[in-house]
Amino acid sequence: MKKVLIIGAGAMGAAFSFPLLDNNNKVTLTEPYNAKLLNKLLNKKKFHPSLKITLPKKLLIRRFSSQLLIEKWDLIVVAVSSVGIELVKKYLKNLNKQTYLLILTKGLKFDRKTKKIITMSEQLDLRNKKLNISVLKGPCLAKELARKIKSYTVIANKNIRIARQIGKLVSAKYYKTEYSSDVRGIEFSSAIKNIYSMVIGSGEGNNTSSALFRKSFDEMEYLIQHFKGKKETVRGLAGLGDLYVSAVGGRNSKMGEYLGKGFSFKNAKNKFMTNDTVEGADLAYEIAPYILNKINKKKIPLMTTLLNAITKNKKLKINY
Ligand SMILES: NC(=O)c1ccc[n+]([C@@H]2O[C@H](COP(=O)([O-])OP(=O)(O)OC[C@H]3O[C@@H](n4cnc5c(N)ncnc54)[C@H](O)[C@@H]3O)[C@@H](O)[C@H]2O)c1
Repeated sequence: MKKVLIIGAGAMGAAFSFPLLDNNNKVTLTEPYNAKLLNKLLNKKKFHPSLKITLPKKLLIRRFSSQLLIEKWDLIVVAVSSVGIELVKKYLKNLNKQTYLLILTKGLKFDRKTKKIITMSEQLDLRNKKLNISVLKGPCLAKELARKIKSYTVIANKNIRIARQIGKLVSAKYYKTEYSSDVRGIEFSSAIKNIYSMVIGSGEGNNTSSALFRKSFDEMEYLIQHFKGKKETVRGLAGLGDLYVSAVGGRNSKMGEYLGKGFSFKNAKNKFMTNDTVEGADLAYEIAPYILNKINKKKIPLMTTLLNAITKNKKLKINY
């Protein structure tokens, strides 16, 4: 039995406790940011408000503190949204470097110092603390995982042996794991698919969206290679796999649908999605300055058009 701490009690962090517990691990869930959510989970007998499910009896729920992090953990799972990585990073200062970390968060960050786009694992380890970080990505709707609907995921570490060790802790009959050593490719693919699912969602009909899906794939391959990941990673679970699930039913493709109907981003957000986090839009603001200045627009016309539409709050006009 291994001791696992999950940081982030949102939908994905909470859903991730199911396969870990089914593998007989001792699992603790904590929440660093949303005190209301934590209180709800503690007071309402573990009923999770966004998963709409009661979390397993064996799951321990504890308040977040720096003390909690320095207890002995075999694995710490980071499941906050991308904006939360900076906060988690501060608390990891005194972490034993041997502790395995696993990042579920999907996103990218523009590092103002180096003027480069960095991944979530690079942000967490910025200025070389040499933490022992793996990443887990792929197509996974948290509500389905919590209901044990068969899902596939990919775990990446440059040292694939570590990825496999973590796989043993998390894989279950309904949660299958694949492995990769292309950490950069996996992280970039899983983040930029949020932008392309908006592009696909903007299609006039299914026929148009399918053609946009096809063209998005080409651009993703180009971008992954630009960012020094492997082209073939885009064909895998973190690329095509995740692009499919986000395009058929996620908040990003919903936003894409509004953009396709002629709403500007801000208008659509205020009118229809006020309380929803649209991760693809947050990412667009983060990466636009780099992508629009440093990458040949002819190679990535869909990305360029979408970034311009969001960051300049203009109508989306895709020429295809
Ligand atoms: N790897 C996977 O298989 C997988 C699957 C689904 C989602 N995800 C990713 O997991 C992350 C969380 O997704 P979710 O569906 O649980 O979202 P959610 O909105 O349900 O939960 C967000 C979590 O982030 C925390 N958070 C938000 N803002 C914060 C801040 N400023 N500082 C610190 N913490 C903050 C919240 O308190 C909460 O714990 C996202 O990046 C998402 O893309 C990964």
